[in-house]
Amino acid sequence: MPDFFRGRRLRRTPGIRELIRETEIRPQDLIQPYFVVETEDKNFAREVPSMPGQYQLSTSRLLDKIGQAVDKGLKSLILFGIPEHKDEVASQAYAENGIIQQAVRAIKDKYPRLVVITDVCLCEYTSHGHCGLIKEKYVQNDPTLKLLAKTALSHAKAGADMVAPSDMMDGRVQAIRTILDENGFFELPIMSYAVKYASSFYGPFRDAAQSAPQFGDRKSYQMDPANSVEAMREAQADVNEGADIIMVKPALPYLDIVRKIKDNFFVPVAAYQVSGEYSLIKAAAAKGWVDEKSIVLESLISIKRAGADLILSYFTEQVLEWL
Ligand code: PBG
Repeated sequence: MPDFFRGRRLRRTPGIRELIRETEIRPQDLIQPYFVVETEDKNFAREVPSMPGQYQLSTSRLLDKIGQAVDKGLKSLILFGIPEHKDEVASQAYAENGIIQQAVRAIKDKYPRLVVITDVCLCEYTSHGHCGLIKEKYVQNDPTLKLLAKTALSHAKAGADMVAPSDMMDGRVQAIRTILDENGFFELPIMSYAVKYASSFYGPFRDAAQSAPQFGDRKSYQMDPANSVEAMREAQADVNEGADIIMVKPALPYLDIVRKIKDNFFVPVAAYQVSGEYSLIKAAAAKGWVDEKSIVLESLISIKRAGADLILSYFTEQVLEWL
């Protein structure tokens, strides 16, 4: 009898390694985030300084960009809007002709088969940069729900294939499910940012979306990074309220949470490899300290192996080229 395990037997050749590989990244697993700007300038394109390779784009430039990505195999995207005017009540978030509503119509018109997901939140549209209505410097939960629901409905009417609430108000999945159903959108899925941590990894995104809070922080609504039992409660609540897909965000620092959600709920699990995760890799790669391609593919494989069925990643376009 052999007296020790020879793991190397199944690592000997590329062919054998491939034969036993458990996890794979497929183009249809990946969702590319895009930032669309409301502007008169049809040619507007601005690279986000802290996110090299990611852009704020006018609708027409975005359509070009999406066209190129579709040629590489892009199946799905999530949209974030940057409105021309912000106010206390985020009116441009639910305006019929708001930037997201316009962009969704344009994208669906040109690429009807693409899965267009919209981020539902108020922070890009409020003058104070918080994800809900403010009273006495505190984000008000219940009054915000009505606006989130209106926002989701306006996205649905514009033709979105799925809405993704990222605000972390309690009860928002129920509010959104209710208004969608009342308006006949029974079969429009909700991908809930159910487990969203108050993370420093969102820093570069707030540059890109111009959504940094003008005072305070988001800790009274986003989760404490130290907690995991609470993540289960959040996921449970959202599943009960009608969420179809549960998201964990950020991804790589929270793989334990991804796995726990995967094992405990019978819904597809999404993970968001957020802006800070992107920028860290980009910065180190630009310095020549890490190999970008292999480190990106390794991170994505790890996120999938942990239990994510879908991954939102700024590397999507790039990975489609590599696959
Ligand atoms: C909006 C929202 C944020 C992100 C997605 N939706 C920022 C935040 O909560 O401050 C972060 C995405 C990223 O960092 O890539 N609430």
